[in-house]
Amino acid sequence: MPGVRIAGLGKYLPQRVLTNDDLARMVDTSDEWIQERSGIRERHLASDEETASSMGLEAARRALAVAGMEADSLDLVLAATTTPDGLFPSAASLIQDGLKAHRAGAFDINAACTGFLAALATGSQFIATGASRRVLVVGTEVLSRIVDWTDRGTCVIFGDGAGALVLEAAERGGPLGIVLRSDGGGIGMLNAPGPCGRRDQPARPFLVSMDGRQVFKFAVNAMEGALREALKAADLSPQDIDLFVPHQANLRIINAATRALRIPAEKVMINIQHCGNTSSASIPIALCEAWEEGRLHEGQRVALASFGGGLAWGAIVLEWAHVGPPAPGTARQPADEMAPAAAKGPSSSPSVPLRRR
Ligand code: UT7
Repeated sequence: MPGVRIAGLGKYLPQRVLTNDDLARMVDTSDEWIQERSGIRERHLASDEETASSMGLEAARRALAVAGMEADSLDLVLAATTTPDGLFPSAASLIQDGLKAHRAGAFDINAACTGFLAALATGSQFIATGASRRVLVVGTEVLSRIVDWTDRGTCVIFGDGAGALVLEAAERGGPLGIVLRSDGGGIGMLNAPGPCGRRDQPARPFLVSMDGRQVFKFAVNAMEGALREALKAADLSPQDIDLFVPHQANLRIINAATRALRIPAEKVMINIQHCGNTSSASIPIALCEAWEEGRLHEGQRVALASFGGGLAWGAIVLEWAHVGPPAPGTARQPADEMAPAAAKGPSSSPSVPLRRR
């Protein structure tokens, strides 16, 4: 069976930044509380013109530039998102069209915050079976559209952004262990209704509803358990992990899970302080930043773990196979320079005070 190399990575973080102090002017909270309870200092928010597909498209373009590949060489485009532009076409189709990836099929995957792991598992298996040679996997979220900006228990943790990976058939590399789990019975802990629910219930706004304390308790065990299972499938132990890239939901959850697994802090990728929780986009953005920081190398064992909405969780252990150097203009640039033209206009969302960098 072919292996899977990560030929390119890209990320897109919107230009607009919402700090904890900004939030403290909107709800009864403080920078100190948010940092202490979640590790978050600031998060990026999409402009009025940006959507999951526009941000995903930008991340995808950057990943393809790093890979040095033309979009029409892609066989498949997968987008993990809980906040697509519409019910259909899929965000993946809009990204495929924006890229002019004429030969590619495209579809979305929604497993809430675990969506990127589900999409990475799916894309890798299209390659492993020989059905595809090149697959683009995007995680992209515009959570600011479904966050209740009056609810301090939820609005302080979420952010917007996108990350993308180009997967290609190779001699070696790719997933060594994949674990995906679900318990839809957990809907009460974390959900966001949509326009197609039952007609015989009072209409609810399409906003995230979360029991943070319950999700927190569930998350630590879920990440630890899924990762142990994925490691077992790969015949590895936590000590074999070179880099752990967890879902960036809460620094205390990440610390508790890594303590339980006895993974040393220097092997854990954390970027929650400047991104917040970007759901399906969090792992690909963190992976991209780890690569930009020179923390990913050929042959390393990389562990990914996630959990989230209502409920879904999982883990993947990967052998990292070659990715080239950053293409000029793709990595480590200030958000200002990275924003596409559409993001540079003024905001018309007066309820959300926003700062530009
Ligand atoms: O991708 C998966 C998505 N979800 C998650 O990962 C969520 C996981 N959960 C969390 O991250 C945490 O539960 C939160 C950060 C959301 C909340 O932190 P917490 O330490 O679990 O706080 P809590 O909900 O237990 O609330 C403790 C206190 C309460 O006050 P009382 O009842 O003790 O007087 C809350 O009302 O903190 C209060 N509180 C706040 N205070 C200031 C809740 N939110 C805030 C806030 N600012 N933003």
